Amino acid sequence: MSADQPSPVVQRIESEVRRRRTFAIISHPDAGKTTLTEKLLLFSGAIQIAGSVKARKASRHATSDWMEIEKQRGISVASSVMQMEYRDCVINLLDTPGHQDFSEDTYRVLTAVDAALMVIDAANGVEPQTRRLLQVCRARNTPILTFVNKMDREVQEPLALMDEIERELGMTVVPFTWPVGMGKQFHGVMDLRQQRMRVFAPGEDRVAGTEEVLDGLDNPAYAERFGMQYDNAQGEIELVREAAPEFNLEDFLAGRQTPMFFGSAVNNFGVQEVLDALVELAPAPDERPAMQRVVKPEEPKFSGVVFKIQANMDPAHRDRIAFLRVASGHFERGMRLKVVRSGKELRPNTVVSFLSQRRELLDEAFAGDIIGIPNHGVLQLGDTITEGEALQFTGLPFFAPEMFRSVEVADPLKTKQLKAGLQQLGEEGAIQVFRPIAGSVLLLGAVGQLQFEVVAHRLEHEYGVKARIMPSRFQVARWVTCEDPQELKRFIDANDHRMAYDAVDAPTVLVEYAPELRAIESNWPKIKFHALREHA
Ligand code: G4P
Repeated sequence: MSADQPSPVVQRIESEVRRRRTFAIISHPDAGKTTLTEKLLLFSGAIQIAGSVKARKASRHATSDWMEIEKQRGISVASSVMQMEYRDCVINLLDTPGHQDFSEDTYRVLTAVDAALMVIDAANGVEPQTRRLLQVCRARNTPILTFVNKMDREVQEPLALMDEIERELGMTVVPFTWPVGMGKQFHGVMDLRQQRMRVFAPGEDRVAGTEEVLDGLDNPAYAERFGMQYDNAQGEIELVREAAPEFNLEDFLAGRQTPMFFGSAVNNFGVQEVLDALVELAPAPDERPAMQRVVKPEEPKFSGVVFKIQANMDPAHRDRIAFLRVASGHFERGMRLKVVRSGKELRPNTVVSFLSQRRELLDEAFAGDIIGIPNHGVLQLGDTITEGEALQFTGLPFFAPEMFRSVEVADPLKTKQLKAGLQQLGEEGAIQVFRPIAGSVLLLGAVGQLQFEVVAHRLEHEYGVKARIMPSRFQVARWVTCEDPQELKRFIDANDHRMAYDAVDAPTVLVEYAPELRAIESNWPKIKFHALREHA
């Protein structure tokens, strides 16, 4: 072997990294995320029968908010990350909570993916939750593929939808397929790149290779068979050809262009094209910035970052699963690892197995893969794990809460349990916990009301603490920093009646109204006020 040739280990890591694709589906509730997820698994061969993912969702359906909570938590660990093999690629699909009150969790999941698949309900167009999630992707320049779903219904005109996506989401849309008709008159899609038509037939039974494909976009027989819908589609395709730019891989990878596909997930239609595009266009894992240096995925030493913590479903054990995105190297079960923050050693022998086709995929992992490590509070959100190197990955966002409540225990003898419970729930990212400098009552901060309910419910059922969650006068929080530590201390002392420390002891100022914050900001020009904190 020559000196500059990579070792077999590095070569293996390189080739494994190249075939990884890690993505999440983003959508507004009901656009068809669950259905599409299931169909992707079906088409890749990871599951044989449609219905298993769906059934899980259905069994979680219920009326009350409590059940909604359970529904959110009830997404079993196995379905939080799904791994499948398709063609020569290993695809990791990460689940994102649908309810907007859990959007913080979703934002963090999005830091662990290399691409996103946006599902749009063709009748409803761009909906609020899609818009919010997309903003997060755009802020990170995540490449986005677009799937316009439910073409078997009476929906919006495709040109109007294309226009809406461009305007609302600020991306150039490049159609890869174009629909012929819709609803009862939906005849299929024109594949604009492969120059052929895929004919629609309703039904869930077909999988790859069984649909009717006609060669060419321009065939006199089409007009006869598909009538007016074909003529309309032809006209629209002309327009699109003139108006839309050519697909440009670089623009796609930078999140400026999105390839668009039309289909009907429930009918297994258009799913294969999306899967193919994911494999062909979505990027393999790339380098990641850490505070100390940039880490390359093919480096031989293992490193990874915890982006999600989920309480185990078995309340008797209080195990928690930390989800780690592998950033570099090769993970093997039982290897000796270090939690950089605490210096503690970690030797994960049990690693959560994700839905996958091949048994050996569970025993090792490469950059782009997600591993789940059960632990008892050793791992926190944002933790970096390495083989020993002192690295800290950046970029895991925490958002300033938009709602506050104070929390007390009904039984003062349970104060200790309350604190322990809140600390764990805080580490999980379920809620943010603040300790005000003045007084002893803890404050909870959240982005959605449902988060408080989840916390009260879990405190009671997992920690045996009945908590009283009460209104708080605060409405706005900002983390404060200053280059001059003396100035920061002066600020904290002068504002001690509205200062608190969060779970990682970051000083936070709490105010009742936004104008009050503006006044404080102008009085303290050297202090920086942050609505977003990145884990450091
Ligand atoms: P979500 O995860 O984004 O919330 O959406 P989900 O897949 O659960 O789909 C929401 C509803 O839309 C479901 O109907 C689903 O069957 C339907 N759906 C998904 N894809 C298509 C499609 O291509 N065409 C049509 N017409 N409907 C589609 P549901 O009535 O809520 O549930 P179900 O009883 O049908 O399962």
